[in-house]
Parts: sequence; C-alpha cells; structure tokens
Amino acid sequence: MAALDNDRLEEAMGKVFTELGVSCTAPLVVLGDRLGLFGALAGAGPLTSAELAARTGLVERYVREWLRGVAVAGYLGYDPGTDRFALSDEYAAVLADETAPTSLIGVFPGFQALWADLDRVEEFFRSGGGMGWGDHHPALGAAQERFSRPAYVHGLIAEWIPAVDGIVAKLEAGARVADVGCGYGLSSILVGQRWPNSVVTGFDPDDDSVAHARAAAAKAGLDGRVAFEVADATTYPGQGYDLVTFTDSLHDMGDPEAAVAHARAALADEGAVLVIEPLAADRFEDDFANPYARVGYAISTLVCTPSSLAQPGAAALGAMAGEARLRDVLAAGGLTRIRRIAQESAPVNIILEARP
Ligand SMILES: C[S@@+](CC[C@H](N)C(=O)[O-])C[C@H]1O[C@@H](n2cnc3c(N)ncnc32)[C@H](O)[C@@H]1O
Repeated sequence: MAALDNDRLEEAMGKVFTELGVSCTAPLVVLGDRLGLFGALAGAGPLTSAELAARTGLVERYVREWLRGVAVAGYLGYDPGTDRFALSDEYAAVLADETAPTSLIGVFPGFQALWADLDRVEEFFRSGGGMGWGDHHPALGAAQERFSRPAYVHGLIAEWIPAVDGIVAKLEAGARVADVGCGYGLSSILVGQRWPNSVVTGFDPDDDSVAHARAAAAKAGLDGRVAFEVADATTYPGQGYDLVTFTDSLHDMGDPEAAVAHARAALADEGAVLVIEPLAADRFEDDFANPYARVGYAISTLVCTPSSLAQPGAAALGAMAGEARLRDVLAAGGLTRIRRIAQESAPVNIILEARP
C-alpha cells in the first residue's frame, strides 16, 4: 500500500469524526422533540437543568446530560457563570416551532426507521429486491408527513399550486383533484381545507397510509370532500380531474411513465398535472453544490429505490432524477407541455406543471 498523505489523512479523520458527532446528536434531537425539551426551552430564556427538569416534569440528571450533549453540538448557548442553557429564537424556528417555514424537526424521527430497516436494505443490494413504504418501520411515514408539512403549508398551498396556470379559479369554483401517492394524506387535506368547494381524492397502495389519511381527514372535519382510496398510480378510478398531483411520489413508483399516462387519461379537458420532486441537478457532478443532495441520495438509497424496485416496472428513477429526466418521463407518458414553476419558493424542490 502506498504511503498515506498525512495532511489528507488528518482531513479525512477530521471530517468523518465531526460528522460522527452529527449522527450521534440525531437521537438527542428526537428526544428533545418527544419529551418537549425544545418546546420548553423556546422563548424561555436561559435555564438550568433543574429549571428545565421542573418545567418538563423530567428527571434532572437525564436532562442535564441531554442539555450538555445538545449544547456541545452547537444547538444551545451555554453560560458557565450561571450554568444556564438557552435556545435562541433562530434555533427555535428550526427545532421547536413546527408551524415555522424553517422547521426541520420532523425529519429526525424518521432516522429510527432508516436504522430499523437497514438489514433488509442491505440484503436488497445482493438480491435486487425492494420494499414498499408500508413495509418500513412506522416512524418513516410519520416523519414524511411532519417533514412535508412546512413545505406544503408555505409552498404547495401558498405558492406552488397557485402557480399552475388557471387552477386557482377552478379550485375556488369547485374542481376535482387526484393526489397520487398521497401517503398520510397531508397534501390532499391541505388542498381540501384551502379550497372548500373542491373535491379531493388521495390514492396510495399502502393501506396503513390510507388509514392514517382517512383518520386525519375525519379529524379535520373533511369527511366526504377529501377521501382516500387504496390504489396504484396506474389503476386508480375516476375521470375528469382538473388537477392530478404527484407530491414527492413519482420517483417511488415502479412505472412512473405508466403513472403519468394514467394521469393523462384521467385529466379533464384543460386539466393539469403537478409534479413535486426533490431538487436535483441534471448532471450528478453538479449535485455536489446542492444543499439537499446529501439527504436526497441517502433517502433515495434507503427508501425510494427499494420502493420502486419492489414494484412491476422497477424503473428506479431515484429521488434525485433531476428536471431533464423528469421531463422525459412526463413526455413518455404523453404530457409534452411542461413548465418549471415556482422556482423561487421551492428551495429544495423541482415543481413541474405538465399538460398533454
Ligand atoms: C415520499 S412518499 C410521499 C407521500 C406524500 N405524498 C407526501 O408528500 O408526504 C411516497 C408515497 O408514494 C407512494 N407510492 C409508491 N408507489 C406508488 C404507486 N405505484 N402508486 C401510488 N403511490 C405510490 C408510497 O406508498 C408513499 O406513500
């Protein structure tokens, strides 16, 4: 073996060691979320471990160790003079306030599923098999919903759907919407809430996701107007949809071209398809500058590629297909009038409007 370059070795050690810290902090972040620690710190000013333990009803010794772990990670300020820890308003907007557009806290609980399902994914590397969303640890679906919420409230509803040419007038008057690959139904429910004259049906092949979606719609008082059915993207029923949405789902499908062709056939005259996909470059080498790429490729390897490879078609588009490849899929499915929309309000997504 050739002699190692010491400077480069130190650099490699430093980078991986630092990132080992990030990986270890993630479970502490999940505990901070589950136990209400971030919520109790938000807006409270500096607190000692005893004060935070009293506010949360938790055991001081555990709270102290957690505070130190999260503080050395850089998420909390610490004053050695008073032995107090503080969560700044900016970190609170990322870790504590789930209504903030900047919230990232919902991503972290999903790591439990990525680790829990790792043995199965390892085997797929040898066998070429795959697994659907419903076969994963339940933390995945729940995290997907929480992760999507800030982007869907502040992006999908406020900016992305309204950017589809002529759709707002139709939704206000009363449109028919199909949400394909709806998961826990968040996007369908938000559309139903924002445009009460419209009727939305969410489709997903995973029964558990559909059960969650139905329960969420009932809780939101949307029974009847926002409905969910267990169905695949290539076979769901209905015709005359004014809008068909694929919210972060097209790349998870076994045959995305067939899914697009089915949507095309189900569209009303002048209907539109809206595709929401993760931000990815057309050339892989350009993804090194993409802030989302690291998350995107990891999730794609562990969840999205297995999802597609478990299905007929096994296209394995990957979550990081990029705009040019997505346009090819849409065109192959018969949608040739394609427009990239809402770019300024979608920092980590590609949003495409597509029509026959
Ligand atoms: C990343 S999740 C997105 C869920 C939801 N739309 C959201 O944005 O939170 C992808 C979803 O696509 C669904 N899916 C995978 N293959 C599908 C298929 N062939 N037809 C319809 N949905 C599919 C999965 O079950 C999963 O719920």
